[in-house]
Amino acid sequence: MTRAVLLENGLLVDGTGSPGQLGDLLLVGDRIAALGAGLRHRLPDGLALADVQVSDCTGLVIAPGFIDVHTHDDAIVLNAPGMFPKLSQGITTVVTGNCGLSVAPFVVEEPQGALTLLGNSFKYPSVDAYAQAVAEAQPAVNVAPLIGHTTLRFACMDDLTQPATAGEVAAMCSLLEKCMGQGAIGLSSGLFYAEAMPAPASEVTALARVVARYGGIYATHMRSEMADILEAMHEAGDCAFQAGVPLVISHHKCAGPANWGRTQETLPLIETFAQRQAVAMDVYPYVAGSTVLREDLVDGVIDVLVSWSTPHPEMMGRTLASIAAEWGVDQKTVCRRLQPGGACYFQMHEDDVRRVIAHPLSMIGSDGLPHDRHPHPRLWGAFPRVLARYWREQRLFPLETAIYKMTGLSARNFRLHQRGQLQLGWHADVVVFDPSKVRDVATYEQPVARSEGISSVYVNGQLACDQGCAQALAHAGRMLKRPVPTA
Ligand code: ZN
Ligand code: CU
Repeated sequence: MTRAVLLENGLLVDGTGSPGQLGDLLLVGDRIAALGAGLRHRLPDGLALADVQVSDCTGLVIAPGFIDVHTHDDAIVLNAPGMFPKLSQGITTVVTGNCGLSVAPFVVEEPQGALTLLGNSFKYPSVDAYAQAVAEAQPAVNVAPLIGHTTLRFACMDDLTQPATAGEVAAMCSLLEKCMGQGAIGLSSGLFYAEAMPAPASEVTALARVVARYGGIYATHMRSEMADILEAMHEAGDCAFQAGVPLVISHHKCAGPANWGRTQETLPLIETFAQRQAVAMDVYPYVAGSTVLREDLVDGVIDVLVSWSTPHPEMMGRTLASIAAEWGVDQKTVCRRLQPGGACYFQMHEDDVRRVIAHPLSMIGSDGLPHDRHPHPRLWGAFPRVLARYWREQRLFPLETAIYKMTGLSARNFRLHQRGQLQLGWHADVVVFDPSKVRDVATYEQPVARSEGISSVYVNGQLACDQGCAQALAHAGRMLKRPVPTA
C-alpha cells in the first residue's frame, strides 16, 4: 500500500518567499499530493483516513526540506549515511563538491593538499561510480554533486604548480564532459587553494563552457576574499559571463580586519553583474571561517582555533595564541608545526555577515567540514542559527524570506528539479519545526551538538527523523542528477 502522511494545522511556508498560510500538507508516496485547509475531509480517491498517518502540527511551521548548497559532504554521505549533522538541522539535500574539491572523478590512496578536506582515499573514476556508491550507502539525505576544478587538475595534470597546458585543458574538458553527461549539476573552483591558484581564468572558462552546454552551474571559492576581492570577483563574473553559465559566489565574505566593511563594495558589484548574467552567492551565519591551517591566514591579530592537527592532535580546540604562549614562539611558527591541520579563523565582521545574509541574492550554505575532529559549529548549526539569530532575534527578514534562502532560491540557483518548494506533485522533502524554539546549540567550544526545535524531517516522503533526531529512521536520500538534455 502506498505510504501517506498528513501534516495538519501547521503554518505552511512554501519556499517561494510568499506569506505562510495555516493548513495541511498531504504526502503520498514520494510526492506532495495536496496542500490546503481541511484535507482530511477531501482525501484523494482511494485513500481512507485510516490509511493515513496523521501528524498534528499546531504551532509548527511546515516548510520544504532545507537545501545545504555549500557542503564538503562527498565522502561522509557514504561513510556516515545517517547524516545527523545535516538531518538534525532540517536539511534534506546537500550539494557536494564545492570549493574545487570533489571525490569524483578521481582515484587516489592518500589525498594531498586541499583535497584532505574531503577525508581519505577516493575511488570514484566517474560520476556513475560515485552514484553507484551513493545508491549502495543509502544516505538519509539527497546528494547533488558538483565537479571540482582542483580534482580535475589532480586527475589530468602532472605539475599542479603550473597553468594547464592546452593538452591538459582538453583532457579536463573531456573528463568534465563525461561527468556532466552522467548527471553532475555543475563545476566548482577553489582558486584560493595552492593546487588551483596557478590556473589562469582562461583555464576555468574553458571548463565552464562545457558546463554551459549541459545547463549546469558554476560555483567558485574566489582567488581572494581579502585585499584583492574585487579583482577576484571580476574574474569570476567574467569567466561565467563568457562561458554563458550561471555563477554562484561561494561563502561570500570580506576576510581580515583590513577588509571589514567592504561588503559595501562587493554587494553593489554583484548587483551590477546581476544586470547582465545569472548570479547568486551562498553564506554561513558566523564571523569565523574554517579551512586547512595556512600561514598566510595567520596575522597575529585575529583569533585562530585549531580544528585538527596530525602532528599535535592534543592542540585541537585551542587557539594559536595560547599555544604560541606555551611554546614561546610566534603564531606562524605554531601554524607550521601543527600542519597538516585545520582551523577556524575569526576573520569577518558581524556587520558584513549581516549584510550578506540579508541580501536578496544570498542563499544559506553551511560549508561544514564533516571530517574535522573539532569542527566549526556551522557543520551542526548553520540553518537553525539563521532562523534563531537572524530571523527570531534580530528580525533581519521575515520568516518566509529566511526559508526562501534555504529552499526555493537554492533549488532555483542550483537547478534542482521540483524541489525547494511545497508544490503539488513535487518531491516530498519537508521539514516541520517549532518557530519559537528552533535554535543552534553547537558552539566553538562544543561544536558537535544537535540543534533544537526541529520536529520532523521527511526525505522523499519518508520520515527521516523526528523528536530531536536522536536516530535516523528512513534512509531515503537519492542522488539528484541533472537531467541530461536531449540534443
Ligand atoms: Zn571554500
Ligand atoms: Cu567550502
